[in-house]
Amino acid sequence: MTRKIIIDTDPGQDDAVAILLAMASPELEVLALVVVAGNVPLQYTRINARKVLELAGRPDIAVYVGCDRPMRRKLVTAEHVHGKTGLDGPDLPAPTMAERSQHGVDYLIDTLRAEPAGSITLCPLGPLTNIAMALIKAPDIAARIGEIVLMGGAYFEVGNITPSAEFNIYVDPDAADVVLNSGVKITMIPLDVTHRALATDARLAAIAAIDNQASRAVSAMLNFSERFDRVKYGWDGAPVHDPNVIAYLLRPELYTGRQINVAVELASELTLGMTVVDYWQITQRPRNVFYVRDMDAQGFYDLLIERLARLP
Ligand code: BDR
Ligand code: CA
Repeated sequence: MTRKIIIDTDPGQDDAVAILLAMASPELEVLALVVVAGNVPLQYTRINARKVLELAGRPDIAVYVGCDRPMRRKLVTAEHVHGKTGLDGPDLPAPTMAERSQHGVDYLIDTLRAEPAGSITLCPLGPLTNIAMALIKAPDIAARIGEIVLMGGAYFEVGNITPSAEFNIYVDPDAADVVLNSGVKITMIPLDVTHRALATDARLAAIAAIDNQASRAVSAMLNFSERFDRVKYGWDGAPVHDPNVIAYLLRPELYTGRQINVAVELASELTLGMTVVDYWQITQRPRNVFYVRDMDAQGFYDLLIERLARLP
């Protein structure tokens, strides 16, 4: 049986790799992409999502446009990592497929109400604005979401956009707070695990060696987005975050974690957007998140390479 997913995304080179991995995986039925502002403003993410679908030969997948800014705060972007367009690196043609006219938040609500309760997994790869707005506008959908598997947060690895906060949560901490307190089943893929999924030279070479349209684009994307993190961390390769959400759905046995409490800091200027993870279960707070802590990195790259080879 295929698993129905909706990918909520701010592409982003690593978002693009996640979308390609999903497109290459028959175990997943991707109902739609919903775009959000994050890595770059919405005017770019809405184009990038369609570029990636056309790269995968899947212009039939619907793209809905969601929120252009966080719920209560000014948008923070990451051009220093992703480039001006968010998808710098490959030279992809302007998309010809159209966007859907319905707002992304309304699409989420209508779809969750129309499909059988529990049948849809939401896969947020960017700030959680669209998901939180949908939960606020239509609280009844909380009981209808099968699971949310998201990339975001950090604890042991601390922050990447501030010393204490991970980018996706930092951009819209109020949205993260809504999602974390929604009662929905949540799996979180934080920096603690994605910092183990390093795209080393050997892994990048294996991707390039596939030599199809998708792999050539992924090579160009990762070679671009790598440069910042390689210098920052001094590691042999840069982390590739978002495809771990899709890989987790396909091969959960590659990942380990714990059911624990995660809360987000909303008040402090210094630690705004920090995910406070009760990893050692010091408090009695509800265990609202399956927090992924470790992974089989080579298993992840083997899967990614095998799947990219199936694309045009
Ligand atoms: C997350 O932030 C973005 O830069 C990436 O696309 C990823 O979703 C990592 O912190
Ligand atoms: Ca992202």
